[in-house]
Amino acid sequence: MDIGIPRETKPQEGRVALLPDHVNALVREGHTVRVEKNAGVLSGADDQSYSAAGALILESAAQIFDTSELIVKVKEPLEHEFGLYKARHILFTNVHSAADKPLTDHLLKVGLTAIAAEDTHQHGSPNCPLAGEVGAFEGVRLCLSPHGGSGRHFMPHFGAPALKAVVLGLGAVGNGALRTLMRLGCSVSGLDINPGARMKADLDWAGQDFTSADVNALPELLADTDLFVNCVLWPKHRDDHLIDRAMLKRMKSTAVIVDISCDEGGAVETTRATTWSDPVYSEDGIRHFCVDNIPGAVPETASAGYGAALLPFVKLIGEVGAVEACRREPWLARGLTCVEGELILEETGMVQQRPYTPVAEFLSD
Ligand SMILES: NC(=O)c1ccc[n+]([C@@H]2O[C@H](COP(=O)([O-])OP(=O)(O)OC[C@H]3O[C@@H](n4cnc5c(N)ncnc54)[C@H](O)[C@@H]3O)[C@@H](O)[C@H]2O)c1
Repeated sequence: MDIGIPRETKPQEGRVALLPDHVNALVREGHTVRVEKNAGVLSGADDQSYSAAGALILESAAQIFDTSELIVKVKEPLEHEFGLYKARHILFTNVHSAADKPLTDHLLKVGLTAIAAEDTHQHGSPNCPLAGEVGAFEGVRLCLSPHGGSGRHFMPHFGAPALKAVVLGLGAVGNGALRTLMRLGCSVSGLDINPGARMKADLDWAGQDFTSADVNALPELLADTDLFVNCVLWPKHRDDHLIDRAMLKRMKSTAVIVDISCDEGGAVETTRATTWSDPVYSEDGIRHFCVDNIPGAVPETASAGYGAALLPFVKLIGEVGAVEACRREPWLARGLTCVEGELILEETGMVQQRPYTPVAEFLSD
């Protein structure tokens, strides 16, 4: 199959979908892989290393889309790419169609096949731990006094307390945040509705300055918290919040909210997604850091994990085509978003209240 890897164009995004070793595995199976010039350079993979792996290097994204059937990417489709899409394309990337109606409209209009990579990770997305680790690290930096933070040191010294952090949601991202904060020496409360998640964190960080609590403890913790890290996967249909605008008034003026989930109007009412180019804004006097592509800041590591997760699916799609690959691999089928103008992804159908064909029914034809 003709496989294309365009360069990511989101601001400050240095990841690439497949690294040279992944490309070489595809070339050895007889596929033709085309890579856009400089696509991997920020991930430590220059054009020469892709050429040595057997890829063809093309000058522009337009050339990649013109010559490829399967397009493998990292970030969601951006509006300036829309004109490059053709009905014959299989687009395998993080799509996030439920949150973006104009994007869904466009994919359906073009009639291409889209597979949402974010839904295909059987063992969790490799990006999630990185987002937690790096997001919490950035939160600690924003707690330094010159950045407007409380200036509490991240480890206790001379009888002064360490920075106090609250991590909301102890899943893959929350556990990543805990790894950074606990290893630095912060004083951390971990909140989750799931008692199992709290127990795991209690065991992981036994003997250190960690306490777990039910999410009901949040209002009490607000007043003396330097850093809030939100890692709750917020259901798209919910219109309530864990931290609403009124609660910001209970926080210290030096506190910072790092919303890694960054669902606009989600668990944190005042969240709006930001980029690495302009990552922090202030709302009612409280700084918010809501970058929606945090792992893009550690591209070499993130690309290694992402490429390894996608490679088996890319091989299968290359061998038998997208629809048959989804029939054979239930985890790939979970991401099947649309085919020839037909919406398949249930979540998008439900959130946008538009007709969809359930994936099992679609694949049984
Ligand atoms: N900003 C980024 O770059 C970036 C990167 C990766 C993931 N994310 C986002 O991070 C979020 C978390 O992802 P994850 O993989 O850790 O999810 P997850 O499902 O593994 O974990 C979510 C945790 O939140 C808990 N939770 C759910 N509802 C809760 C509530 N009301 N109160 C308290 N806890 C609650 C769950 O029990 C679970 O432990 C997702 O929204 C994901 O899209 C962002």
